[in-house]
Amino acid sequence: MLVSGKEIFQEAKKGKYAVGAFNLNNMEILQSIIEAAEAEKSPVIIQASQGGLKYAGIEYVAGMARIAAEKASVPIALNIDHGTSFEQIVQCVRHGFTAVMIDGSKLPFEENIALTKRVTEVAHPNGISVEAELGKIGGVEDDIVVSARDATFTDPDEAAEFAERTNCDALAVAIGTAHGVYHGEPKLDFERLEEISKKTDVPLVLHGASGVPDEAIGRAIPYGIVKINIDTELRMAFADAVKRVATEKPDEIDPRKILGPAKEAMFEVVRKKMRLFGSSNKA
Ligand code: 13P
Repeated sequence: MLVSGKEIFQEAKKGKYAVGAFNLNNMEILQSIIEAAEAEKSPVIIQASQGGLKYAGIEYVAGMARIAAEKASVPIALNIDHGTSFEQIVQCVRHGFTAVMIDGSKLPFEENIALTKRVTEVAHPNGISVEAELGKIGGVEDDIVVSARDATFTDPDEAAEFAERTNCDALAVAIGTAHGVYHGEPKLDFERLEEISKKTDVPLVLHGASGVPDEAIGRAIPYGIVKINIDTELRMAFADAVKRVATEKPDEIDPRKILGPAKEAMFEVVRKKMRLFGSSNKA
C-alpha cells in the first residue's frame, strides 16, 4: 500500500530505526526494492531523482509505483528526491506521490524557508509529507553537483528554527556525507548530529549513505535519523552484474538473462541495508 512519508517517518522515530529510501530508474530496480521489502517485512521509500524522472518519465514512475504498492503488503512511500521547484512539486502531487523533497539548500536561509513553507501548503492538505534540506550535501547526483568547496554543514540552531518555521516533516542534514562514490572513508560529524538532535525533534534524513561504513550508520540512527538514501550502491550492484554477464556470456541476447542477475544483486543490497537500518519486521 502507498502511505504518506509522514507515517513512515513518525513510526521510525518512535521505534528508533531508519527506513531506506532507494532510487529507482526502471522496472527492474523497483521490483528488486519491493521484493526485498517484502522479504524483510520492512517499510520502504522509493524515490526518483531529477535524472530518474527525465529517464523514465513521471507517468511511468508514478504508474509503476502504484502497481507495486497495490501488490505489496508493506507500506511504501513514493518520493521525489531533490525536487527543484514549486511547480515540479505540484506535478508530483498531481501524479500521486505520497512524499516530496524540496531542495532549497542553495538558497539563502529565508528563501529556503519561504519555498519549503509554500511546498508544505500544497503537500500537507493532500496528506503528502515534505522533506527539506538545510546545509549543502556535497557530491554529484545526476544533474545536481555540489563541489566539496561549496558543501556546508548544517547549523544546529538554524535547523531548529527552520523546522519550527516551515513545519516540514523531515530534514536532510549535511554532516559529512556526499552523493556518489567516496574517495577515502567519509567522516561523519557526530557532535553536530547530536547537537541538531538536541535542538529539534524533526525527523532527520541522511543522504549520500552509499559507502558509509555500517558502524557509522548504526551510530547515526539513534540521533533521530529516520530516512537513509541509497542510490550509488544499487547502481554499482546493477552495473557489476550486467558486466559479469557480458564477460561470461558474450553471446547472451535475452534482456531477461542480462538484467535478471542485476535484479538479484540489487535485491541483496536492499535487503542488507534494511537489516542494518533496523527496519526489518517493522511493516
Ligand atoms: P548515494 O548515491 O551516495 O547513495 O546517495 C543517494 C542520495 O542521497 C539520494 O538523494
